[in-house]
Amino acid sequence: MAPSGDDIIVSERKLEMILSMKGGKGEASYANNSQAQAKHARSMLHLLKETLETVQLKPSSETAFAVADLGCSSGTNTLFTVNMIIQHIIKRYESLGYVLPEFSAYFSDLPSNDFNTLFQLLPPLAMGSMEECLVTDNHRSFFAAAVPGSFYRRLFPTRSINFFHSAFSLHWLSQVIFLDNCYYYHYKVPESVMDKRSTAYNKGRVFIHGADEETAGAYKKQYQSDLASFLRFRSLEMRSGGSMFLVCLGRTSVDPTDQSGPGLLFGTHFQDAWNDLGLITSEKRDTFNIPVYASSLQDFREVVEADGSFTINKLEVFKGGSPLVVNQPDNAAEVGRALANSCRSVAGVLVDAHIGEQLSEELFSRVEHKGTAHAKETLEQIQFYHIVASLSFVQVKTKKKMRCSSQLHTRTGARCRWCAEAVTMPSSSRGLACSSETATRSGRRFWHVARGSPMMRVWNFWVFELMVEVWKKMMMPDDA
Ligand SMILES: C[S@@+](CC[C@H](N)C(=O)[O-])C[C@H]1O[C@@H](n2cnc3c(N)ncnc32)[C@H](O)[C@@H]1O
Repeated sequence: MAPSGDDIIVSERKLEMILSMKGGKGEASYANNSQAQAKHARSMLHLLKETLETVQLKPSSETAFAVADLGCSSGTNTLFTVNMIIQHIIKRYESLGYVLPEFSAYFSDLPSNDFNTLFQLLPPLAMGSMEECLVTDNHRSFFAAAVPGSFYRRLFPTRSINFFHSAFSLHWLSQVIFLDNCYYYHYKVPESVMDKRSTAYNKGRVFIHGADEETAGAYKKQYQSDLASFLRFRSLEMRSGGSMFLVCLGRTSVDPTDQSGPGLLFGTHFQDAWNDLGLITSEKRDTFNIPVYASSLQDFREVVEADGSFTINKLEVFKGGSPLVVNQPDNAAEVGRALANSCRSVAGVLVDAHIGEQLSEELFSRVEHKGTAHAKETLEQIQFYHIVASLSFVQVKTKKKMRCSSQLHTRTGARCRWCAEAVTMPSSSRGLACSSETATRSGRRFWHVARGSPMMRVWNFWVFELMVEVWKKMMMPDDA
């Protein structure tokens, strides 16, 4: 029996495993609905190339130059981009006359991503030397691997990646789930947005476009905390001299309740389709919230600056254009279909999990009808903006590793290397500690301990006495 909207049981782990763009190669799959992203990415290629110029290369290296694409999904976009990145870096090596290293590419996404479809699209690895690989058409010149996991957590070993790329992914809020009697799942749109008693409860809406200030404020807070985690972990994984290029949904308005393009995509016909759906309770609708946040430049900048591990080479809002790619803009039916497929390729998996496949089918067919009925405005009004960030890793200057008093956690720069927390001054102790207060910084701590220890006091006293004697001798010679 097909499940009805109210009896879907989704365990925490299971949900993290199902969240993804729609896999496969079908009509509503991401692979077939990512032409808009491809177009937008190509219009930003010059910015990506500028960032690649900032990566520091070594005259020779025994380790492979490593590139990671985070939120790669399962289409050709990631393959095109990664290949382009590696070709650009190869050209730089050649023009500098440096020894060409081997190249590794890591394709990373949530575990539920359709990596199979992705790797079926991957050209074979050219055999032979790297030089031979480079002249072979339709072959790749890099070793490839999948890295399943959330980019809001650790993904790679310390200091292992030279270049991070992430496109159209960082606007997704962290996909952590809270369960309520196992019957409703709450992925991490902020908890307050799902709490009926909270002023941030997003009643009657499935997205924050046009929502209350509190609701949008809760989303903003979640986005900034997610981005802070992303940067913190990348700063541990990046090699010195590395850079990253990030693109995510953005907005031009300072007001987070105005989510611009995504606001219209999920806040108009998609929203209306939920309202018309019937068959589900209003509570069921209200517990569905699209976990996406289109950031302003200021929202983004604040986090990068607070983190302090990366210098900003460039940070701008870039006009991407329409997310709907249609061959005949005057064909209303095609526009409606493009709208439904676009919403479905991005949010379909979440909707399926929330109300079941049958109701989800019904919902998206309503989106299609609405898009068809308002084709002209839909095409004109839904325009996307992106935040484009080119960041370089701030070199770690401290050579000396400092150890915390437990000798478990070492720190480099201003971070505990074990838990990646920024080191701050806790009120309870005069040593420096990360917020977990498990890792205290040794520099000051040893100094305090030394100054305070009885042996040290005796030693200090003795040195002081000696200096006084020397001074007396100098000022009052014996024969005086
Ligand atoms: C719109 S697709 C972008 C795909 C690809 N980068 C492109 O340019 O076409 C967004 C991807 O981000 C992934 N994603 C969302 N949240 C993520 C997270 N916390 N960790 C890793 N990937 C995530 C989704 O699974 C999805 O594959």
